Amino acid sequence: MTFSETQARVISVAKLAASLSEHWSPRIVAEVDDAYVKVAKVKGSLTWHSHENEDELFFVLKGRLTIEMDDRVVDLIEGDAFVVPKGVRHNPVAIEECLVMLVERKSTLHTGSELTDRTRDLASQLRPV
Ligand code: NI
Repeated sequence: MTFSETQARVISVAKLAASLSEHWSPRIVAEVDDAYVKVAKVKGSLTWHSHENEDELFFVLKGRLTIEMDDRVVDLIEGDAFVVPKGVRHNPVAIEECLVMLVERKSTLHTGSELTDRTRDLASQLRPV
């Protein structure tokens, strides 16, 4: 499946997120010009990282997500969105399982310059849900 085939179709974002089996393994569900829309099922802590040149939007579809940053912490509930500005170190944390939608430029690396066993490359994220 290519994304040209998915364009102009309804995307069941929350259902796609709920269908994921692996935590912290984002999957791309749409492209919008230079950005990807992704869904992820998350639980626990990802890793501290930053994206030097890209903003990153988190939108909570279900559950609660905490985004730790050096100088502040934000708590998001279902329906909340938050944009982590480029260059800001952050670590997303979910005490309980949480479903999120992400919008980020295509060049954005999953865990920035940090490489951990949770880091997922673009090929992994492009796998059909
Ligand atoms: Ni990030």
